[in-house]
Amino acid sequence: MADFARHVDGERGAGRAGSIGRATSRFAPSGDHQASMADMNGKVVLVTGANSGIGKETASTLAGFGATVVIAARSRTKGEQAAAEIEQRTGRRPELLDLDLASFASIRGAASSFLARHPKLHVLVNNAGLVLDARTTTVEGFETTFGVNHLGHFLLTQLLLDALKAAAREDGEARVVNVSSDAHRWARRGIDWDDLQAEKKYASFDVYAKSKLANIYFTRALARRLEGTGVTTNALHPGVVATEFASSEDMGLLTSFGFKLVRPFLKTPAQGAATTIHLASAPELRGVTGGYFADSKPKHPMRLAQDDTLAERLWAISEQLVASAEPAASAA
Ligand SMILES: NC(=O)c1ccc[n+]([C@@H]2O[C@H](COP(=O)([O-])OP(=O)(O)OC[C@H]3O[C@@H](n4cnc5c(N)ncnc54)[C@H](OP(=O)(O)O)[C@@H]3O)[C@@H](O)[C@H]2O)c1
Repeated sequence: MADFARHVDGERGAGRAGSIGRATSRFAPSGDHQASMADMNGKVVLVTGANSGIGKETASTLAGFGATVVIAARSRTKGEQAAAEIEQRTGRRPELLDLDLASFASIRGAASSFLARHPKLHVLVNNAGLVLDARTTTVEGFETTFGVNHLGHFLLTQLLLDALKAAAREDGEARVVNVSSDAHRWARRGIDWDDLQAEKKYASFDVYAKSKLANIYFTRALARRLEGTGVTTNALHPGVVATEFASSEDMGLLTSFGFKLVRPFLKTPAQGAATTIHLASAPELRGVTGGYFADSKPKHPMRLAQDDTLAERLWAISEQLVASAEPAASAA
């Protein structure tokens, strides 16, 4: 955390270059993102929500950097399409992992299949996310936006921690990258601790903003727990990006029409993936942890998002929620 504070204040962290990625030349498989090419050969990367948008671009670029990329998707058909597209672009076919973040059983299954193939994980990109017009619940009964955007990734990360630590121990470092959003600023009053599941009041973008605030709290609390392990974690805002996000399937026609109107003015998915790729691969970010980035630069999230007491409160509640839902509940 101290490392990140130095970085954001004067960007002095940039001198502590490490060796996960050796800066070599430029690589732009999609033509327009500006990430420097890093050498990711021998590194294993897992990206959630990698069948579309920012996740697919991230997976594709990191595959182009030489990483063994595993793309997680809830739809096998969409996952296979993305894998084929990435192979066409980079000449490297990513592995496919079935993962529905709205189901703890699916998350546990995905983690087991991943670990059976890969004892080490160098970069976990928690990217999947959604916003929903109407309140729905996950398999375990949690409000879906909170359940997928925060709780699902919370559990997935816990299940993969040993593999991340093993990568750090043997190869010098590992990273967890959490795709948050500047939309966390809409949650001005912060998390509603008395209505975490939005049972009393549901407003789609308000619930979404809180889930993205939760991503920042998760990052800060995780960074503290990972001190000294060689595993770092940072969160980011990708910009406003023309993806499938808030499409008519998930939102009302009016909202999705609004998104379509502004689409030409938004970042392309490749531009939107640049900060994620930077956090996943930039050698100069070795050791930098607990931070929030936008446009590949450190940035302060809103003041409330920097409150570590609240971050710890969310961590404790998340642990309780996961424990309450399984495994006893699923065994019953
Ligand atoms: N686009 C923006 O302007 C913007 C701005 C700020 C932050 N973000 C964040 O960026 C991240 C990526 O979004 P995007 O813009 O690339 O949108 P996207 O194209 O809609 O991609 C979202 C991905 O998440 C997956 N996903 C949704 N629910 C899931 C579940 N239950 N289990 C597993 N995967 C699930 C989607 O799978 P399906 O294809 O099966 O739905 C899709 O692959 C999100 O976390 C979002 O909050 C986006």
